[in-house]
Amino acid sequence: MTGLMARQETGGPDPKHQRGAVSPRRAGMVIALGLAATAAAALWVAVTAGRTRPVTGRLRNVRLLTFDRPFPEGGRFASDPYIGSHVCAECHPGEAALHSRSGHALTLRPAARRALSRRLDGTSVADPELPDVRWSYRYADGRLSIARRTPNQVEECIAEYAFGSGHHATTFVSVIDPVVPAILEHRLSYYTRDGVLALTPGHETKPPPPGLTPHGGVPPPRDARACFGCHATQVSARGSPGIDEAMMIPNISCERCHGPGRAHVAAARRGAPESQLALPFGPDRWTAPDLLKFCGTCHRHPSGPRPEQIRPDDPNLARFQPIGLMQSACYRQSQGALSCVTCHDPHARASSRRAEYDAVCLECHGGPAGSGGSARSLARPGAVCPVSPRQRCVECHMPQVGVDAGRHILLSDHWIRIRREAQSTAESGTAVSNTHARVPHDP
Ligand code: HEC
Ligand code: HEC
Ligand code: HEC
Ligand code: HEC
Ligand code: HEC
Ligand code: HEC
Ligand code: HEC
Repeated sequence: MTGLMARQETGGPDPKHQRGAVSPRRAGMVIALGLAATAAAALWVAVTAGRTRPVTGRLRNVRLLTFDRPFPEGGRFASDPYIGSHVCAECHPGEAALHSRSGHALTLRPAARRALSRRLDGTSVADPELPDVRWSYRYADGRLSIARRTPNQVEECIAEYAFGSGHHATTFVSVIDPVVPAILEHRLSYYTRDGVLALTPGHETKPPPPGLTPHGGVPPPRDARACFGCHATQVSARGSPGIDEAMMIPNISCERCHGPGRAHVAAARRGAPESQLALPFGPDRWTAPDLLKFCGTCHRHPSGPRPEQIRPDDPNLARFQPIGLMQSACYRQSQGALSCVTCHDPHARASSRRAEYDAVCLECHGGPAGSGGSARSLARPGAVCPVSPRQRCVECHMPQVGVDAGRHILLSDHWIRIRREAQSTAESGTAVSNTHARVPHDP
């Protein structure tokens, strides 16, 4: 572990909620904040009461379905409509193989199961902002514990969940109370590209956002639940507002996108005709706007933020691909011919082969005589680029930009456009070229 990057000032709006900020304003917020403050206060009492103390009462690992226990063959309960995605692989091995390596399949795991946790054992780093505070990581007895050390106190916490596949970053989360639900989002996250432990987005102490504790964030219950909602297939099978660890199906599995599959599998096994095999969400039945809305439930959709929050000069917008894409002339002027699956196989990791994307661009921008120029029947075909007519489209029109305060994560800006501002953002250090090495895959 090398040194930490110095904290940089964020230019834009509240970076924390680069994760949740563009969600609509909520009525229950005041109550929710109240509850969070109570939870934070309880946590604070617990941690200040002694020298070495656990931060949460739960000194155990979670035992997650599909990692620590198999999906029960007969379902989690009588007439469970879910069957578990391992079953899909029997008949759809191609999709299953791609999906198993994708971020979707790896984004919510028990912290103890991550190779990263073992690698962090013995690591000790200074807090990026607070003098006298050090963080140390210990992996022992199949558990990762994170200790906050000051000259006169050590507070320890078991990291239960690891959010993020590690393709970009990993944030550890501990559950304080699964019923409320109250969680602790740890103050430091691990950033793969730079190989550093640095502040979790939004955890800068100046000015301290509500719910920030010395250990990290204690978000309001709705936001705590939402973390799991976007990183899991089902958080509770019983309609509970909490984090139902006995029932939860972690990660974005086949059944999160296609819908519960038990009836489909039964029908396929008895050789039912294809007409009876349709799933709630299948191919070719969705229009581009519907698909964007669907992917946008997690990747965010323009119906979420207030219009004035959607600004081309906000690098953090690169986190929200549907919002970006839907601002582009390519989307607006191609009459539903462009959606996420035009460029991505939804089962796979995003390809890093630029030529594949160039080929997609040229389907619309290849010119009348160009190869692929007529591949998509457009009412209005796209123009040919006067600068680079055949190649390297993404480099200039969808560059990678650094998001969040530390700029440890690079994301491709899906707002396809002519970037007259490219030079000025490059000077201010937010636009980054596309030539970085791919981050290694964390198994
Ligand atoms: C016993 C074999 C079998 C299993 C297991 C199975 N499928 Fe299928 N599936 C089929 C067949 C057969 C079809 C229809 C032909 C085709 O599209 O391949 C199909 C079609 C599909 C389609 C296209 C359906 C549509 O609505 O147009 C999707 C999506 C799909 N399966 C997803 C899944 C998922 C998700 C699972 C796991 C929950 C699963 N399948 C498990 C056999 C199976
Ligand atoms: C239930 C929430 C959810 C839905 C729905 C969803 N995603 Fe994702 N997606 C995520 C999360 C979370 C990640 C980050 C995974 C990680 O930790 O790396 C992600 C990552 C990705 C990636 C990067 C994958 C990689 O490994 O490089 C692509 C591409 C992607 N999603 C495309 C889509 C598309 C296309 C759709 C719609 C068909 C979609 N997603 C629907 C939550 C979702
Ligand atoms: C509205 C859905 C949504 C909510 C709520 C949400 N996430 Fe995510 N999260 C995503 C998506 C989508 C991605 C993939 C972003 C990308 O790669 O473009 C992601 C990515 C991540 C990553 C990988 C690193 C990164 O930033 O790309 C981590 C870690 C993470 N989320 C943790 C959390 C935690 C912790 C919470 C709760 C405080 C949370 N998320 C709440 C949808 C969500
Ligand atoms: C992020 C959402 C997402 C996840 C997760 C996902 N799919 Fe899909 N799947 C889609 C979309 C969107 C399509 C339609 C793609 C298109 O139209 O190009 C699709 C298409 C399919 C098809 C039809 C393929 C075809 O060419 O007709 C099958 C079969 C399928 N998925 C199976 C699976 C299986 C099995 C899994 C789990 C291993 C899975 N999917 C996970 C979104 C998803
Ligand atoms: C489905 C068709 C389609 C695809 C695919 C597509 N575009 Fe476009 N794009 C259009 C249309 C239509 C317009 C509007 C007419 C024009 O300006 O050419 C447009 C406009 C543009 C513009 C001008 C934007 C502006 O604000 O003036 C750029 C730059 C551009 N596209 C780049 C790309 C790049 C790069 C790709 C590949 C990553 C791409 N497009 C993929 C259809 C498409
Ligand atoms: C015109 C082509 C195009 C379309 C359409 C498109 N993407 Fe991408 N996407 C890319 C490119 C290019 C990358 C960068 C891949 C790389 O080099 O790693 C990317 C990467 C991603 C990533 C990985 C994070 C990152 O920024 O590197 C996610 C997540 C993602 N796309 C989601 C989506 C979603 C969701 C949609 C639909 C709203 C979508 N994309 C539509 C071209 C596209
Ligand atoms: C080296 C950077 C660079 C590359 C590579 C590049 N472009 Fe451009 N592109 C530009 C610039 C700059 C403009 C604005 C030109 C002007 O208006 O003088 C532009 C303009 C465009 C336009 C608008 C043309 C019009 O007449 O309205 C489209 C469409 C476009 N590019 C598509 C593409 C596609 C598709 C590719 C890949 C085949 C591509 N570009 C590769 C920099 C680039």
